[in-house]
Amino acid sequence: TRTPLIAGNWKMNLDHLQAIAFVQKLAWTLKDAGHKYTDVEVSVFPPFTDIRSVQNLVEADKLELAYGAQDVSIYDSGAYTGEIPGGFLKALGCSYVIIGHSERRQYHGESDEIVGNKVKAALKHGVVPVLCVGETEAELEEFGPSAVPVAQLKKALEGVSQDADIVIAYEPVWAIGTGKVATEEQAEAVCAAIRVALGEVLGEAAAQRTRILYGGSVKANNIAGFMRQPNIDGALVGGASLDVAEFSSIARFQ
Ligand code: 13P
Repeated sequence: TRTPLIAGNWKMNLDHLQAIAFVQKLAWTLKDAGHKYTDVEVSVFPPFTDIRSVQNLVEADKLELAYGAQDVSIYDSGAYTGEIPGGFLKALGCSYVIIGHSERRQYHGESDEIVGNKVKAALKHGVVPVLCVGETEAELEEFGPSAVPVAQLKKALEGVSQDADIVIAYEPVWAIGTGKVATEEQAEAVCAAIRVALGEVLGEAAAQRTRILYGGSVKANNIAGFMRQPNIDGALVGGASLDVAEFSSIARFQ
């Protein structure tokens, strides 16, 4: 049994002061609603500059909330201006780090090779990678639904150990921030293909253990349908994760 994970990718939104107010409100709202963290894990992914503030709050108030970063360097330290290594994320209590988001592949030239190296960098420092894969609309038309995500997955997991703790997020690029959500059937079919590929690459035990999230225009009004699918174990939420009420509803699948 895989514990569902509802993950909020804030992208480049909410500064550290806004993050403090947001996280407090989110924690209260979930508690008020009787949310059980052991039933559904909730995680936020703030910008780097917010993480220390989120850590302070989570530790001081013992909040039942995980958090992570949106990117990590392939290097451990050194002359890499602007980069943040996995060790620093670990030191700030990050459980997770998003790797290979389509926005980074698209706007920051991240190749499958870089993405694979980032996965290994995160694992090396004990931070769980949330590896994002997904096809563009043109790729969907040319290659069909699961070819590109599966190829991205296989390349990123080359050389990764069978007992590595990872999370996969299937995010069709055409569904990100567009309001054009994948159908439950479409998302389930690709997530099922991803699980088969995980079995081929990391073995059946890893395939059964690893959580696969759907991402792309997830809202409170469509989460329940995704969560009913056998191969979808949660969601990576962008826009709707910036609204406390909406994101709390998503975490409760309602
Ligand atoms: P939206 O939920 O805004 O479509 O973004 C999805 C996403 O990219 C999460 O990483």
